[in-house]
Amino acid sequence: KNIAIIMGGYSSEYKISLKSGNVVYNYLNKDKFNLFRIHIFKNKWVYVDDSDKEVMIDRNDFSIPLNGTSIKFDCVFNAIHGSPGEDGLMQAYFELLGLKHTSCNFYQAALTFNKRDLLSVLKPYGIKSAPSYYLNMGDDINETDIINTVKLPCFVKANKSGSSYGITKVYKVEELKNAIETAYKEDDEIIIEGFLEGIEVSVGVLKLKGETTVLPITEIVTENDFFDYEAKYEGKSEEITPARINKVQLEKVTSVVKKIYDVLKMTGFSRSEFIFIGDEPFLLEMNTTPGLTTASILPQQAKAAGIELGMLFEHAIIEALS
Ligand code: DAL
Ligand code: MG
Repeated sequence: KNIAIIMGGYSSEYKISLKSGNVVYNYLNKDKFNLFRIHIFKNKWVYVDDSDKEVMIDRNDFSIPLNGTSIKFDCVFNAIHGSPGEDGLMQAYFELLGLKHTSCNFYQAALTFNKRDLLSVLKPYGIKSAPSYYLNMGDDINETDIINTVKLPCFVKANKSGSSYGITKVYKVEELKNAIETAYKEDDEIIIEGFLEGIEVSVGVLKLKGETTVLPITEIVTENDFFDYEAKYEGKSEEITPARINKVQLEKVTSVVKKIYDVLKMTGFSRSEFIFIGDEPFLLEMNTTPGLTTASILPQQAKAAGIELGMLFEHAIIEALS
């Protein structure tokens, strides 16, 4: 089978995506699959061969014009974090073309990538989240209103972003304006959330033979103020799998992620972040194309469940093709 591995993307996360994509390329079984690395950047969509030679993709059918023929794909492995791979754009394009792809479908991707919309849709199903306040670019900033709603400290986040780009923890009202400006660099929508003090966990979910399977859960302990970019990628955190949570917490968070998969009719794998207040899990966000490097959380969780990296990626393709 011909598999296109798409990586790169239009957001600040493109470097991490290139790492993820190359890990997928290196770990998938090349006896089973013909693999093609495709870089998706704003100015070019190209196939990159092993000698780093680039060939433009034909966007009419997502094929590679090569030596007078055209290589078509049986499946796309999506390793793009952020837009256009995690927000539904590529998914919608593949779905129009009738091309199978890993990760969820376009609507689920668009919805889950939008933190505000995801949390709002899930709220009536009893899925809890932090007190929040939303801004669109150009809105008046009423600091008193914001602080009264979310209390201090709070997090100012870009509504649609990943890897903590654009996030600031705010302790004093005077810090709000700068934090809002920082978040607007990543997105024209902002979500401001009250700080939740409790155990932070990362929950990986996988579809295995159509069944929603929850992987061993990871606890995040960070040296930094929060699980920011540095904590995520420069080793300033400890990731403990399995998380040191009690049985009730484990049961609750497991049932919450399964409910999310059911309610949203999710496909593909994902990683969701929660903070426990007592035994109650509060949802922070979902990642439908989570980091896939050897050091990333989902691959580590899969490993803890006895699923090696190559198998994790293979399962994703099998699910996508089924
Ligand atoms: N957005 C990053 C890649 C993650 O969720 O792992
Ligand atoms: Mg994220």
